[in-house]
Amino acid sequence: MNLLAIETSCDETAAAVISETGDAASPWRIRSNVVASQAAIHREWGGVVPELASRQHIRDICGVYEAALTQASVTLDEIGAVAVTQGPGLVGSLLVGVAFGKALAWSRGIPVVPVHHLAGHIESLTLAHGELPLPSAVLVVSGGHTSLYFIDRPGHYRLIGRTRDDAAGEAYDKVAKLLGLGYPGGPAIDRVARTGNDRAFDFPAARLTHADRNAPRATAEDILPADIARRVDFSFSGLKTAVLRLVRARTGTNPDIRAVKAAVSDDAGSRLPASDIADIAASFQRIVVEALLDRTFEAARWLNARSIGISGGVSANSRLRAEAEARGVKHGIPVFIPPLALSTDNAAMIGAAGLRKLRSVGPGELDFNAMAALPLE
Ligand code: KG4
Ligand code: ZN
Repeated sequence: MNLLAIETSCDETAAAVISETGDAASPWRIRSNVVASQAAIHREWGGVVPELASRQHIRDICGVYEAALTQASVTLDEIGAVAVTQGPGLVGSLLVGVAFGKALAWSRGIPVVPVHHLAGHIESLTLAHGELPLPSAVLVVSGGHTSLYFIDRPGHYRLIGRTRDDAAGEAYDKVAKLLGLGYPGGPAIDRVARTGNDRAFDFPAARLTHADRNAPRATAEDILPADIARRVDFSFSGLKTAVLRLVRARTGTNPDIRAVKAAVSDDAGSRLPASDIADIAASFQRIVVEALLDRTFEAARWLNARSIGISGGVSANSRLRAEAEARGVKHGIPVFIPPLALSTDNAAMIGAAGLRKLRSVGPGELDFNAMAALPLE
């Protein structure tokens, strides 16, 4: 069967056609995967403007959907189901995809599957590499999320660690803005960091030793020892503040941290010499990558995982990819990362998660709604 998938949770309008292969080890094949990026629109504002995003989704959705059918060489008659991102994300953006997906499914009399965006990022791994050896520890690291999941059977995602403040991609975007590197910040830092000295600055790495006061029960206490369960949470806001302090000290701008809100909206760092910018980017990136991999590998070891997966926009990062693979070899555990086109937001991954859900729990009712803070479990 062919499934049409729609993804509009943030600033990418995406549609894809995915088909089933009949091979349990590698169950899905991508027939088309079309993404219309709005990056050029939001760059001017230094970040995603929700109202502009939803309006642009409305403009782009029909063309992107038609391109997905054309590139897959299928007609609408050959589409047997629709999958659409229900959440989490910007609600105005989500609504465009949800309304389009539901209307299409209703008008054709075919099932519609509401999909969790992070289930999509997780299933991008199986879409690219076939079923992972289970159990697996999967890190989803994007602009909105930094979450570690334990997967002991296909489609069963157990949250074991998450960020207590900023997502890693968000930290990349904020630091890039401060350094005058523009939006989106992740690829820009990745690029300039290649020429920098990653030991030039000794930024602090967060060590979490206490349970989260906002969610007192550590996420994974029943499957990990309590101290390990706390350690596999993430925190990036202290690192971001350390970069801010450094930039303000070196540029002679007000180092008063109470001005932090105003400061992150400026680009004081753009006045620094290019070599300083590269050194700051490289030093920041080293800490982020170490924090992500230390926790993922530690959780995998405690959980006797047979594989590690890393997905989401930040998994496009060249240093994260290289170090994850090197650590995997060193520790004798296979590491799976999607190719770049499946790392950042796309609809093929939503199609994969949609087919998984359709075959295990069946389609949704037509009355589901977009949910900005949809939980995965
Ligand atoms: O998964 P994604 O496309 O959207 C969300 O679900 O959030 O992730 C976008 C995030 C952005 O924060 C972007 O800066 C980051 O992924 N990103 C990167 C790289 N490419 C994208 N971060 C670091 N290095 C990259 N090469
Ligand atoms: Zn995403």
